Amino acid sequence: MSITGIASRVLRTLPAETAHDMTISALKAGFGPVQRTPDDPILRTRVCGLDLPNPVGLAAGFDKNGDVGAAMLGAGFGWVECGTVTPLAQPGNPRPRLFRLNQDEAVINRMGFNNNGLENFARNFGGQRQCTGTLGANIGANKASNDRIGDYLTGLKRLWGLPDWFTINISSPNTPGLRELQGGDALEELLGRIMEARADLTGDQRSPPFFLKLAPDLAETQITRISDAACAYGIDGLIISNTTTERPDSLQSHYRSETGGLSGRPLFARSTDVLRAFKGAIDGRRITLIGVGGITSGDDAYAKIRAGASAVQLYTALALHGPSLLAKIKNRLAERLRADGFACVADAVGQD
Ligand SMILES: Cc1cc2nc3c(=O)[nH]c(=O)nc-3n(C[C@H](O)[C@H](O)[C@H](O)COP(=O)(O)O)c2cc1C
Repeated sequence: MSITGIASRVLRTLPAETAHDMTISALKAGFGPVQRTPDDPILRTRVCGLDLPNPVGLAAGFDKNGDVGAAMLGAGFGWVECGTVTPLAQPGNPRPRLFRLNQDEAVINRMGFNNNGLENFARNFGGQRQCTGTLGANIGANKASNDRIGDYLTGLKRLWGLPDWFTINISSPNTPGLRELQGGDALEELLGRIMEARADLTGDQRSPPFFLKLAPDLAETQITRISDAACAYGIDGLIISNTTTERPDSLQSHYRSETGGLSGRPLFARSTDVLRAFKGAIDGRRITLIGVGGITSGDDAYAKIRAGASAVQLYTALALHGPSLLAKIKNRLAERLRADGFACVADAVGQD
């Protein structure tokens, strides 16, 4: 077994957040896994103008402060989303706030946007930009803010010019009231103000893509309304989904009643159903879908792509199974694409 393999086994015996903090420190110190061989060319893809060596991305929340994006690209992710960052540093919820549900291959977190704030993020993320590869910034609002939409604008303005794309995260279940921005007038106001700021910041240059990150806990009518608003305001893509506040009956672990967002395998079916529902609601309009939630294998990634995702992201499976999982996911995905006669990822998108 490799050193990284041993290290990731040891880390899994530690409390979840301690293991995470140690992983980030090790990555910052240059002790990360490194992919030695290039990706299979069948995995190369283009998403909203971003050229990716493979469609498997690292989801937000792993690298909240923009410290280790380059290291995670080096580990083999095709694209990496850093954040969520809020304008001001905030501590998040009291610990413990991160729970491994090993029997369920799941995690519950109620981190609450713990992060070191925009200034720190801009400095770190700027440093990461020396690498080649696609890095995005996921922005959010402070818990104590009395102008949450204003917080997103502050994030955009401060980070403008740094990330390859922006994700507007309105779906964390751990900042009370944040998910209300997904509804009716609040969503219209958010999108209106964001797109106005985007136009001001862009001028006659080309804007990076803007993605909206959504919850899986949405009713059919909300899905239709969000799709219509996102199309009307010119959002480039929807990331589906964040964690769920639901608790499937199948959960076995004694942590299952902890408050927070559930991620990992039990989220897969729900988030893929919601992805499919968005695909239907968008009905051919020009908006890209990104599939996230419970991806643990190449078959899962392939299922999201066939359900309508142009690319995918994951987090929990990496935390539970270690970085060696990534190569397995990519190899299997390439195998499935070939077996079904597709020449590239894009050809398989939405084939179900
Ligand atoms: C510990 C933890 C922290 C997270 N923090 C964030 C975050 O700050 N911003 C965000 O948009 N999503 C966050 N997420 C959600 C993930 O990005 C992802 O959408 C979700 O976990 C589903 O994917 P997965 O099942 O592959 O983990 C977090 C997830 C976990 C497990």
